[in-house]
Amino acid sequence: MARTGKVTVVGAGFYGSTTAQRLAEYDVFDEVVLTDIVEGKPEGLALDMNQSRPIEGFETKVVGQTTGADGEGYQAVAGSDIVVITAGLPRKPGMSRMDLIETNAKIVRSVAENVARHAPHSVVIVVSNPLDEMTALAQLATGFPTERVIGQAGMLDTARFSYFVAEALAVPVGSVKTLTLGSHGDTMVPIPSRCTVDGRPLTDLLPPEKVEELVQRTRNGGAEVVALLKTGSAYYAPSAAAARMALAVAEDSGAVLPVCAWVDGEYGISGVYLGVEASIGKGGVKKVVETELTESERAALLEAAEAVRAKQADVQSL
Ligand code: LAC
Repeated sequence: MARTGKVTVVGAGFYGSTTAQRLAEYDVFDEVVLTDIVEGKPEGLALDMNQSRPIEGFETKVVGQTTGADGEGYQAVAGSDIVVITAGLPRKPGMSRMDLIETNAKIVRSVAENVARHAPHSVVIVVSNPLDEMTALAQLATGFPTERVIGQAGMLDTARFSYFVAEALAVPVGSVKTLTLGSHGDTMVPIPSRCTVDGRPLTDLLPPEKVEELVQRTRNGGAEVVALLKTGSAYYAPSAAAARMALAVAEDSGAVLPVCAWVDGEYGISGVYLGVEASIGKGGVKKVVETELTESERAALLEAAEAVRAKQADVQSL
């Protein structure tokens, strides 16, 4: 099988390293690069992943590279088709994603500038929090066209929602389809009207108060994991979401995925990065896909857009 393309994951914490592992195990890329500022950590993790190749049977090479504060080591990123930015601090129990904004803005800005320098044609997938704001910042700092910078959130939030629905109804996760739009935060907008179980509307299967309970648990999905772990945030589901987005780009699949994308007129909203459905391919977002919403879902999406817009304006100065 011909493997092609190079994908870089910036940040070798649990989220980054798990993403790199998933990408390598797809066995479709020529090379996966993992970078971090902690001396030796990405090299060590890459060596470990490469030693798993004979067992798991994948040929994608994993390269680890320590990077420095002044951009040393970023040469390893050169020629990447896709860069996943996971750099930044995760939440601690009791923190909101927004509490990370100042610290992570500095980190993401510097990473994005280095990515723009060394991989100027890449598609950037941002996962650092607060997600919608860090995605907007990465676009500003790279200067890339908006369609080439996307954020990962909707994939994760819908996966959580689907899992909770599957548990509540004791059905396979594969029979559940859910959708969340809006922000990856307090103004997340789950869309029950678009949720189905084996093609049947979720709203026919569960009473409204149960749907609302699952929506609330979805909105709180990341915090629930943080509270249990106590020393970091979720990474299995988040990395699965980020890696699948990267795969859609690599395969130019055109798959319609819930992502954080630049919205320009859809739903009557303009000029903001927001969780929407979009068709994803080689150049990033091919098209934001509008879906039918109930009046209250549409109102909640507009509210989310305004909340995110205000915060995204703040990051410009961070
Ligand atoms: C979460 C973090 C990664 O939702 O945003 O788990």
